[in-house]
Amino acid sequence: MDKLVQTADGSPTLWSGEFGESYHSVSAGALEEALKKFLLPSHLPFLVRERDGVSLLEVGFGLGYNLTVTAVELLKVNPSVRVRYWGLERSLSPLLWELRLPPPYGEFYELLKENLKRGKERFRIGPVEVNLLFGDARREVVRVEETVDAVYHDAFSPKRNAELWTLQFLEKLKERLRPEGFWVSYSAALPVRRALAVLGFEVFSTEPVGRRSPGTAATLRGRAVCERVRPLSEKERRKLETSPRAVPLEDPCLCLPREVIWENYLRRVSEREGKPLG
Ligand SMILES: C[S@@+](CC[C@H](N)C(=O)[O-])C[C@H]1O[C@@H](n2cnc3c(N)ncnc32)[C@H](O)[C@@H]1O
Repeated sequence: MDKLVQTADGSPTLWSGEFGESYHSVSAGALEEALKKFLLPSHLPFLVRERDGVSLLEVGFGLGYNLTVTAVELLKVNPSVRVRYWGLERSLSPLLWELRLPPPYGEFYELLKENLKRGKERFRIGPVEVNLLFGDARREVVRVEETVDAVYHDAFSPKRNAELWTLQFLEKLKERLRPEGFWVSYSAALPVRRALAVLGFEVFSTEPVGRRSPGTAATLRGRAVCERVRPLSEKERRKLETSPRAVPLEDPCLCLPREVIWENYLRRVSEREGKPLG
């Protein structure tokens, strides 16, 4: 059963009974997180200064907060912008309908919920085209019909939602991201950063929000100009190169249960540490 929770910036989120985690950072604030961990490091606000159309793929549509904040903020920067959004999501929480967002996000959010309530999967809200692909993201990702300017990776944590953080799934995302585009996430987990590096991404840290650890941004050929995105420190780089934990999660068939993916990872870490498991 999901539960309603209040976050630090006053916006509500849900706590997921299935995953034992909240949908957004309670200490950072749900809307703060959408803005500072996703939208700003994605570089989309820079792009729309020069372009009237951008596209975005999100792993975990969830409550639709990242989409709402992104749409409203990009329209502030460029009122003529068109945004095409692709959201991967297994299923909507039954508590979604009880959520309300404050101005300037409330109006867009109510329109979003209205469309979802009618069971729509592809619809428009003004200049924003929303495409939702329901089902296991590992299967549905191939239905994204274009290469996008940014990927928001907002699954639950790698430990609880391992199937969405593997080398093989990240490779599917890479295939759908333009080389100049940015992949962004709240997570700085070593297996995820290692997988990105193995796939040829340049990996950056993003400014921490509401906690000490940073998030991650990564790009194949993009130029990091956002002040919230910085190169890895010497310490971070060394950890990524030498820590036994810096080994990707693996799911070669894109079909393994999340618990198996995590257990296999722990086994490989303990082999690298030279210690027996448990
Ligand atoms: C942290 S929440 C996303 C919050 C969302 N980005 C927002 O702005 O409100 C993670 C989401 O990933 C979804 N999810 C978890 N495992 C999945 C899977 N295998 N396939 C598709 N969606 C999944 C969950 O249902 C949940 O809605």
